[in-house]
Amino acid sequence: MKSQQILMLMIYTTFFCFMSTSSHQDTVTITPNHSIQYHDTLVSSAGTFEAGFFDFGNSSRQYFGIWYKSISPRTIVWVANRNAPVQNSTAVLKLTHQGDLVILDGRVWSSSNSSKIEVKPVMQLLDSGNLVVKDGESSENLLWQSFDYPGDTFLPGMKLKSDFVTGPYQYLTSWRDNEDPAEGEFSYKIDTRGFPQQVTTSGTTISYSTGPWNGYLFSGVSWDRMHRFLNFSLEFTNKGVSYGYETLKSSVLTITMLKLNPRGGTERSLWSNKKQSWDIVNTHPIDQCEYFAACGVNSICNSDDLPICECLQGFTSKFQAKWDPHDWSAGCVRRTKLSCDNGDWFKNYTGIKLPETSSSWFNRSLSLEECETLCLRNCSCTAYTNLDIRDGGSGCLLWFDGIVDMRTHTNRGQEIYIRLPFSERDQRRNKRDLNRKRLAGILVGLLALIIGLTILLWATSKSIKGMKLPKPVVKKAISWKHMMEKEEDSLPTIFDFSTIDVATNHFSNRNKLGEGGFGTVHKGTLINGQEIAVKRLSKTSRQGTEEFKNEVKLMATLQHRNLVKLLGCSIQQDEKLLIYEFMPNRSLDYFIFDTMQGKLLDWTKRLEIIEGIARGLMYLHQDSRLKIIHRDIKTSNILLDNNMIPKISDFGLARIFGGDQAEEKTNRVMGTYGYMSPEYAVHGSFSTKSDVFSFGVIVIEIISGRKNRGFRDPHHHFLNLLGHAWRLWIEERPLELIHDILDDSAALSVEILRCIQVGLLCVQQNPENRPNISSVVLMLNGEKLLPKPSQPGFYIGEDNKADTGSSKQYESCSVNEVSMSSLGAR
Ligand SMILES: *[C@@H]1O[C@H](CO)[C@@H](O)[C@H](O)[C@H]1NC(C)=O
Ligand SMILES: *[C@@H]1O[C@H](CO)[C@@H](O)[C@H](O)[C@H]1NC(C)=O
Ligand SMILES: *[C@@H]1O[C@H](CO)[C@@H](O)[C@H](O)[C@H]1NC(C)=O
Ligand SMILES: *[C@@H]1O[C@H](CO)[C@@H](O)[C@H](O)[C@H]1NC(C)=O
Ligand SMILES: *[C@@H]1O[C@H](CO)[C@@H](O)[C@H](O)[C@H]1NC(C)=O
Ligand SMILES: *[C@@H]1O[C@H](CO)[C@@H](O)[C@H](O)[C@H]1NC(C)=O
Ligand SMILES: *[C@@H]1O[C@H](CO)[C@@H](O)[C@H](O)[C@H]1NC(C)=O
Ligand SMILES: *[C@@H]1O[C@H](CO)[C@@H](O)[C@H](O)[C@H]1NC(C)=O
Repeated sequence: MKSQQILMLMIYTTFFCFMSTSSHQDTVTITPNHSIQYHDTLVSSAGTFEAGFFDFGNSSRQYFGIWYKSISPRTIVWVANRNAPVQNSTAVLKLTHQGDLVILDGRVWSSSNSSKIEVKPVMQLLDSGNLVVKDGESSENLLWQSFDYPGDTFLPGMKLKSDFVTGPYQYLTSWRDNEDPAEGEFSYKIDTRGFPQQVTTSGTTISYSTGPWNGYLFSGVSWDRMHRFLNFSLEFTNKGVSYGYETLKSSVLTITMLKLNPRGGTERSLWSNKKQSWDIVNTHPIDQCEYFAACGVNSICNSDDLPICECLQGFTSKFQAKWDPHDWSAGCVRRTKLSCDNGDWFKNYTGIKLPETSSSWFNRSLSLEECETLCLRNCSCTAYTNLDIRDGGSGCLLWFDGIVDMRTHTNRGQEIYIRLPFSERDQRRNKRDLNRKRLAGILVGLLALIIGLTILLWATSKSIKGMKLPKPVVKKAISWKHMMEKEEDSLPTIFDFSTIDVATNHFSNRNKLGEGGFGTVHKGTLINGQEIAVKRLSKTSRQGTEEFKNEVKLMATLQHRNLVKLLGCSIQQDEKLLIYEFMPNRSLDYFIFDTMQGKLLDWTKRLEIIEGIARGLMYLHQDSRLKIIHRDIKTSNILLDNNMIPKISDFGLARIFGGDQAEEKTNRVMGTYGYMSPEYAVHGSFSTKSDVFSFGVIVIEIISGRKNRGFRDPHHHFLNLLGHAWRLWIEERPLELIHDILDDSAALSVEILRCIQVGLLCVQQNPENRPNISSVVLMLNGEKLLPKPSQPGFYIGEDNKADTGSSKQYESCSVNEVSMSSLGAR
């Protein structure tokens, strides 16, 4: 056996000596005086990994690296000279007699500068992807190993290490970009300042934290199918910790890796032999709550709620009505100070990703009860929980001062006990009492009302004989006049209910065009032959009345080619109708998201539609007598007339701004997922710039033929359409966004490119960076130089929420999508 190996070695040695540099040679072991030349590779014994020189298409930047031998496209897992590419294709990698690896090209890189003597160094690439230098062929004594110098890839068997005193010393660092392996902005390390947690950092700033280790894994890591074949472990020594994972023995053939990408996100990939491609099984961040301290201190983040942030019980928001989407960074403060005596108690939160632990304290041998006692004893202790959740839980973990980066985590969430003053316990009881009192009050009120009504009915039934009530229509006209204040000239026609009832064939189902939360939309034909669309508000919808008045009031004053025209309204008892001009071509979503219908809209038409919507919005924002924020700009609210001219419709949520008012805040966030700007969805603050955001989404949807909501980037599943467009943009291949059915000939692509850029400018995270709509109109005309867009808001996909917005004409489905509307302040 041994002699066989030596023979092999000899063959290789001989081969190396006479080899021409152009031959591709696989080899297993390297000793001093042999080198790996530009075209040679070193292969692990089972053929899993391969090491050698490679480049990214620029032959004057050569790297020595390790990749999977039989996976294409080539997936690099480690780069030796990542910060120092060699200029020269005559470069070689040599193993010195001291056991150092050196790339010889003016000696730009070496693994170490040792002065070890009496060693017989041998270099091997192991099947784990570890490049090792051993002291002698069969020795276990490693002189050096690449696993001690991780790059951006975390392989099974690799360890990330941190010293309790000096901090992390073995950790991942991202590449600068996909074609530059130099050390980039982000690091992925184990933070041992308190109880160990994994953090992703940019400089000294944490961008993501997993929360503490819980015995199985880090608290915030989602438990998914990878845990069936991976065993994660965090080992403590006297000096520090070491974190790693192994594939379980039953799944020896599993090829998996975790990569820290240049943007600081992580992706766990699993190689699929069947598909011959990587499956991404786990990514971070997956939503807004994963941005470190997204909601600031003493709050809890829940990405299923809107706003996503909520103060913990006993705390109140420091939030002020401001633009900044990161306003929650101020977090929450205590309503009442802790009394620090025995009156304090703990509220049990369950299903939680634990807060970050850099200022925590722990003890393995304490029970949960002892943990509580200990926490109560120290006034700055604010929360506690079990250290280890295995076997029913053990150990004690304490937090001091602020609670940061806590979120709901349905998938294996944990418990945490948050300290509250006695008064909060009291308040709970008070609240219940209050509710009881309220209920009693309501009952008494109801009784009074019933009695009152009975008397009234009795009285009216007596007096109604012989008395003629005024015609309802007249009464209404007066009230509308009041409502619309001196807007008499643009007063809409008041229709008789019966007229419309006839026109719509008694609101027959066959005439129905759509249905939404407010009610239904029917097609009708007036006696003079004019076709109309009638929005009939449902009788039960109380909110509808508000929106109805709003819509009539607004529409009566507005006239623009790109706004749908209100012909009139009707209000009779509890029937409320809005009568619009009929749009034979339905709405934009009907065309752009459908491959067949999409063919009817070539690029020229699409550009006209984009420009039309922009002009309609410009009229709303600044050219009409009022400043109007639509608040629900989306493709299903863009109707198309006979000539495919776009008309903005559905003003149920619109708001009028006075004079120089720039923004407003609401506790009642209503709109449509996928189109709402972050500052509106999260903080309820809206302005012309939130409409601009929605417009930007529409532009990207028109170009790509895909819905923002529900779309997943094929390579980065957590990215939605905006994220996808942004990724293509920064990877400098924006034209790949264009839907296949669109002709992207060179002449058009200049125009399309400009539109993509305008779209991205409109959806930027910070509203102040977004152009106003009049600039957008100029930009689309090519009359304005385009600035560079920055990162979009909400570019991370929402998880699996069904898109309930249907594509019917005239519908007002905003309230339909109540899943996202948050009513009233909490
Ligand atoms: C290896 O190289 C060293 C100096 O670089 C030389 O002294 C030694 O003789 C060489 N060994 C063989 C086997 O060629
Ligand atoms: C290749 O890399 C060298 C050195 O970094 C650089 O100067 C050169 O511009 C690059 N060439 C190309 C075509 O990117
Ligand atoms: C390439 O490297 C070799 C040896 O390392 C050196 O002799 C040669 O001058 C280099 N060539 C260039 C173009 O830098
Ligand atoms: C070894 O020494 C060389 C030259 O002094 C230096 O460029 C290189 O960075 C050193 N390598 C290490 C790993 O310290
Ligand atoms: C997981 O790894 C730990 C530590 O290396 C070990 O004690 C444990 O038995 C492993 N679990 C399984 C299921 O292999
Ligand atoms: C906390 O709540 C969970 C779930 O309701 C429950 O199982 C657990 O026993 C509670 N813990 C304490 C200490 O009350
Ligand atoms: C943990 O608690 C136990 C029991 O109270 C105590 O004996 C031990 O010293 C504590 N350990 C540390 C590190 O404080
Ligand atoms: C409370 O805990 C903090 C943080 O561990 C510590 O600095 C402080 O001395 C403790 N106070 C008391 C009274 O034990």
